[in-house]
Amino acid sequence: MTRIHKICIFLLLVTVAPALAGTPLPRWYSKALTRSEAQLLAAAQQFGNSGKTPRTYEHGKIQLVSSNDWTSGFFPGSLWYAYELTGNEQLRSDAEKFTAFVANAQYRKNTHDLGFILYCSYGNGFRITRNAGYRQVLETGAKSLMSRYNRKTGLIKSWDPGIVSWSFPVIIDNMMNLEFLYNMGHLTGNNSMTEAAVSHANNTLKNHFRQDNSCYHVVAYDSISGNVAGRQTHQGYSDGSSWARGQGWALYGFTMMYRETKNPAYLAQAQKVASFILNHPRLPSDKVPYWDFDDPEIPNAPRDASAAAVIASALIELSTFTPDNNQYLDTAEIILKNLSDNKYLAKKGTNGFFILMHSTGNMPKKSEIDTPLSYADYYYLEALKRYRSIKQTGHL
Ligand code: GLY
Repeated sequence: MTRIHKICIFLLLVTVAPALAGTPLPRWYSKALTRSEAQLLAAAQQFGNSGKTPRTYEHGKIQLVSSNDWTSGFFPGSLWYAYELTGNEQLRSDAEKFTAFVANAQYRKNTHDLGFILYCSYGNGFRITRNAGYRQVLETGAKSLMSRYNRKTGLIKSWDPGIVSWSFPVIIDNMMNLEFLYNMGHLTGNNSMTEAAVSHANNTLKNHFRQDNSCYHVVAYDSISGNVAGRQTHQGYSDGSSWARGQGWALYGFTMMYRETKNPAYLAQAQKVASFILNHPRLPSDKVPYWDFDDPEIPNAPRDASAAAVIASALIELSTFTPDNNQYLDTAEIILKNLSDNKYLAKKGTNGFFILMHSTGNMPKKSEIDTPLSYADYYYLEALKRYRSIKQTGHL
């Protein structure tokens, strides 16, 4: 072999070998990432002095929210994910800045949404930086969340009287706060937190699901007897309908609780929910659900890209627990590819600097219909990160 041949082979190995380490990522993935980075940087620059975080863009106005709002942690969380995905140090510094904007939520005892608010922001920040100050905020926040746990019902109360008429309502969304409580229990050695998270998941498993494995939005409990007092909806089409994002929260919540506990009942429930969603006759071919599977206006009903993003992220994780089922990863890939198409992915500088279009926040209240939403962007970025890990390393 000549010296020239040796140099050529060396150059070939240096340039090609990294790509061989995993499956190459598709072109839509690079486009999604570049677009997301540009939108987030622009939003961070625009709102960096507001002390608030962007929630939606509706009727031509960008809505900014304080740490009193359940969505306030998603924008800082998106910045952390985008920083991990791109390595762009500006995104890290923006993530630090916007994370600090939601610090006051740690003291709130009037909401169950502390997982959404604090774990997406401070939780991701702590996972990436191991900043002791972040850990302190998380510890205080977990204690605040724990104050809503009721031993009689074995559940965390979602809303206080005044917001709704029920005395002890639990919404399926509350499954999403368990990751925060469970992991803080582990981190601090506080078993009452891990036990509360498990109890909440067990009671949700028992009371929230219908025969067909769809779930109700709200289950109201009698806090004296601990019994179920009613099953209704708040954001869905009707009490008996299947609100799309609620099905997404259920899928994500039980997949996550299986990851944490390895309780096979949680995995079985996650698979049943996945089966309900993926085999539903009214799931569109692009796999981005209508806002409620039972809206009689389908196919003219609005879509919910946020539900699609939550479902995609959950399905990627679920696929790691069920290696013989390709349907989960394949469907997640279809969702992500479609969300990364111009039909859903906003053009640079448009859409109030949000990444995705066409989500539905609260249809019964006629609020945030066919708008961007900060949580659609957050779970989209999380799903992109999970997708990249699976493709490049074979695991999350
Ligand atoms: N309450 C959370 C949601 O709208 O999904």
